[in-house]
Amino acid sequence: MSSGVRHLYVHLPFCAHRCGYCDFVTLVGGDGELHGRYVDAVIAELELERPVLASTVETIFLGGGTPTFTAAAELARLLATVPPADEVTVEANPETVTLKLARLLSRNGVNRVSMGAQSFDAALLSVLERRARPDDVRRAFHHLRDAGLDNLSLDLLYGIPGQSASDLERDLEEALALGPEHLSCYELEAKPGTRFTHTYGDELARQSEAMEGYFECVVRTLTGAGYRWYETANFCLRPELAGGRDLRARHNLGYWLGRDYLGLGISAVSTVKGQRWRNRPKLGAYVAATARGEAPPREVEPLEEDVRRRERLLLGLRLDEPVPLAGVEAALDPAALARLSKLGLAEQVDGSLTLTERGRFLGGGVTAELLAS
Ligand SMILES: C[S@@+](CC[C@H](N)C(=O)[O-])C[C@H]1O[C@@H](n2cnc3c(N)ncnc32)[C@H](O)[C@@H]1O
Ligand code: SF4
Repeated sequence: MSSGVRHLYVHLPFCAHRCGYCDFVTLVGGDGELHGRYVDAVIAELELERPVLASTVETIFLGGGTPTFTAAAELARLLATVPPADEVTVEANPETVTLKLARLLSRNGVNRVSMGAQSFDAALLSVLERRARPDDVRRAFHHLRDAGLDNLSLDLLYGIPGQSASDLERDLEEALALGPEHLSCYELEAKPGTRFTHTYGDELARQSEAMEGYFECVVRTLTGAGYRWYETANFCLRPELAGGRDLRARHNLGYWLGRDYLGLGISAVSTVKGQRWRNRPKLGAYVAATARGEAPPREVEPLEEDVRRRERLLLGLRLDEPVPLAGVEAALDPAALARLSKLGLAEQVDGSLTLTERGRFLGGGVTAELLAS
């Protein structure tokens, strides 16, 4: 196996409109010509960075924005240019997925689609300012299946203003009825500076205590339906129900396990051999630099070993598998570990550390306490 980066992320920022709750780097609209110039720029950046990639790439993730809103010919051109990989995931918005598009993805090497359903309740989708209606989500899912895609993930949000516990149960039921291989369920966050936070920030703060119960409902429902709760917010069908397949998201596992990755496109982050860089978000400067054969404007910082150790713990403890302590011990507070072990929240076995089920429900708070200051 060659050394080099085995995980590649490509940011496709275009969206039909901006949902009020979202603070990702996105650009509204754009025509085929603009999308084409952006894809040219991404391909130029790929050529520039190709030497850091391993000869075999394990995973590719096209995220957004709305990758499936990108002009179809440009999306196909990009997919034909990236190296082959074992797992090729594309993020999709339901209203953009026609049977034709699903076939284009499948024909061009995509073998996993992660679709933002968010909810199956029309009123809640309106609160989120989503374009898709519940039927669009179901229709898109069937198109992807009809195109032969056998690894589909759905994103759901909980904590949407006005969403009762029984609304959440119905959303989970609706999602399960489609039989996805994978589900990501996120608590809706009030991102600073968004329209949504301006309107609903106080309401989200008021309901924050109820969210523990919603999270438990998500975990109990999905594990009860045969899914493995393998990461705080992520669930995959158990191998015994999936013909022996391990359906964890391999690309994201790379992040959680602290592996190196290369990110292409505006705002994309890369972590390569002790360095981390983030491309600046401005489209014009990105396109202009790559057209000159130069690296796009970016902030580069050395990634100190102690930061890496802390990240390995912070991210690794989100998983249901123990984190080997060799090499990360210096980031741990031994007194906190003893205290949390006594409380039945963390467990140290054979040189590895894991959170117990109770610890996983409390999540970030427990991990933060475990880290040495
Ligand atoms: C940035 S979106 C990109 C995918 C696609 N455009 C979509 O909207 O579904 C990826 C996922 O991030 C999650 N997300 C975005 N904003 C969020 C927020 N404020 N709180 C929690 N999750 C959020 C959503 O579940 C979404 O599916
Ligand atoms: S479609 Fe997705 S990426 Fe685009 S604005 Fe909405 S949530 Fe953000």
